[in-house]
Amino acid sequence: MRSTIFLFAWGCNDFRYDLPYRGGNAAGDTAVADPSFAADIQPILDQHCAGCHPGQDALDLSTDAYTNLVNQPSQESDLDLVSCTAAGDTASGAGTGSPDDSYLVHKLLGDQDAAGGTGGQMPLGVSALTTTEIQTVENWITKGCTP
Ligand code: HEC
Repeated sequence: MRSTIFLFAWGCNDFRYDLPYRGGNAAGDTAVADPSFAADIQPILDQHCAGCHPGQDALDLSTDAYTNLVNQPSQESDLDLVSCTAAGDTASGAGTGSPDDSYLVHKLLGDQDAAGGTGGQMPLGVSALTTTEIQTVENWITKGCTP
């Protein structure tokens, strides 16, 4: 009986972002459990996105793209690009965010149509980001969009 409860807890959603095998480096096999934008997200954008989303473009992902993404409206959908509540705004004092309400995540997953958007999966015309990289982006949002 005890082991049944243990197995159930292991598969529980609440543990999803804290499992040891998900901690690590975004460039490796495991998603970063509690990423920061500067250390973990901007490098992904630099590598896969900045070439097509540079300075004067509608969406600049080239340098310090934090303020261009967090709680900024998307042009293609009614969602924000990244939906987060700043630390201090919630009752607990901790920030939180919703990958489901973040158009950026839908563009990475390729389900932008279902999210009320349009256009192609990002990065456009090449392989999608790895599951690990997308999970790191989702973790960053869920944990409150640490700069
Ligand atoms: C080859 C060029 C190219 C690359 C690489 C690329 N994009 Fe895009 N992106 C576009 C174009 C063109 C559009 C508009 C048409 C579309 O959505 O398909 C767009 C649209 C978007 C939008 C929608 C913007 C809005 O305001 O609704 C997001 C978000 C986005 N890209 C994120 C990314 C991310 C993140 C990456 C890297 C993982 C990336 N893009 C890589 C060309 C590119």
